[in-house]
Amino acid sequence: MVIKKKLAYDLVIFGTKGDLARRKLLPSLYKLEKLKKLHKNTKIIGVGRANWDKNTYIKMVKKNLKKFINEEINIIFWKKFCKKLIFCNIDVNYIENFLKLKKILDQKNKITINYLAMPPNTFELICKGLAKAKLNLPSSRIVIEKPIGESLKTSKDINNKVGKYFKESQIFRIDHYLGKETILNLLSLRFSNFLFMNNWSNKNIDHIQITIAENIGIKGRWNYFNKTGQIKDMVQNHLLQILTIITMSIPINLSSDNIRNEKVKILKSLKPINIKNIKKKIVLGQYTKGYIDRKLVNSYLKENNLNETSKTETFVCIKVNIENWKWKGVPFYLRTGKRLPIKYSEIVIFFKKIPINLFKNSCNVIPQNKLIIRLQPNEGIDIKINNKIPGLTSKFNLKEILLTSNYSEEFKKIDIPDAYERLLLDSMIGKQTLFVRRDEIEASWKWIDKIIKSLKKKNQKIKIYPAGTWGPKESIDLIQRDGRNWNIY
Ligand code: BG6
Repeated sequence: MVIKKKLAYDLVIFGTKGDLARRKLLPSLYKLEKLKKLHKNTKIIGVGRANWDKNTYIKMVKKNLKKFINEEINIIFWKKFCKKLIFCNIDVNYIENFLKLKKILDQKNKITINYLAMPPNTFELICKGLAKAKLNLPSSRIVIEKPIGESLKTSKDINNKVGKYFKESQIFRIDHYLGKETILNLLSLRFSNFLFMNNWSNKNIDHIQITIAENIGIKGRWNYFNKTGQIKDMVQNHLLQILTIITMSIPINLSSDNIRNEKVKILKSLKPINIKNIKKKIVLGQYTKGYIDRKLVNSYLKENNLNETSKTETFVCIKVNIENWKWKGVPFYLRTGKRLPIKYSEIVIFFKKIPINLFKNSCNVIPQNKLIIRLQPNEGIDIKINNKIPGLTSKFNLKEILLTSNYSEEFKKIDIPDAYERLLLDSMIGKQTLFVRRDEIEASWKWIDKIIKSLKKKNQKIKIYPAGTWGPKESIDLIQRDGRNWNIY
């Protein structure tokens, strides 16, 4: 099918009452309305078990927009937006219910996008229901959310079940990090700047650090999180996706498959972490009580009233190696955790040390050049280079100086879109670049499975860290053993 940007769509949101729909999907759709990105004939069909009519649904949407969009609702755009809203009462357990949806959809004139904001154990039921009502036409699309499985086996199972009813080109697997502006900018940073293009390999780069820090705890999500843990919640998807974009080779063009072909090569080149090396490569942590913004917060265990003995990790630090010609010998230090001091994500590229120090008289160690990509918040780019301190002395006194660029300054008048705005729009225009292909998901699970298995076999202990710190001391030891340090924010 030829992709036309101006087509109208029917967007069906399964789980429209859920957290994701209320917090992210509906506010993003309203913003797209404001940006005039939704065709006037587009319909947004909220699906749920509630016995609601259209007006009750509209009220619910308005209430949540007020809560989550951080601005006044614009009456003109709201009027246009609420004309698009429809509610359809379906219990996905009853296959015949899907016929109600068929009556609403205009499959002749519009592409249908089914957004499954529901747990993965409902995916098969929904796909079956759609197929039974003949709603899985070749033009239809399906958007699915993480977690896509909890191991290679279970992710294959989900992919097979969805794959029975929809072809790969119809399946859009969301990793919302790929919709973030700064992640997308990694492509332009890498492939439109000659300055970096030729420096981007083990010839010039010493090591790379990637940090995704959050200051929130788990609280309301305890049941989900405690079964999942930080490795499966953040590393298998967001961190590995960032790693692939930062290290993939130059694709021949920006088509979805050419980009994803390069990304999957990286995932397949990750050096396995096994029982022999796991102790040196991974540190797991769990937060105890501590201070965030000067307020005392509970330990992970106390956030849940029932179970005080969990060994689930809320922090992970991993040293990763990529076994290919370009990256052999360059370690990647990844860390992510809950209840760290601030919400902050960055990628720091450390260039190699200068081979011979000509400035020994005044400077024992010349700092390595660094490229710091601030992903969120306070988006921007910093470059740290060495500069002579001006003066008449005969010595070259050096100072590390900062060249900095902030989105808030550079792009003052531009609103940075939320990841879901972009991803919803891309699913509508049928662009799969920012969605994860089946082989990517499965390659990442294959690597993660080995880690989980080795951790179990080795019975590796979780280290504790007080909330409001940068994780267990052992995560600092891990990088310091290699003569390096975490970048200080
Ligand atoms: C989700 C994880 O995928 O990403 C959460 O399940 C995490 O645990 C969230 O808090 C972080 O996303 P963001 O966009 O706030 O960095």
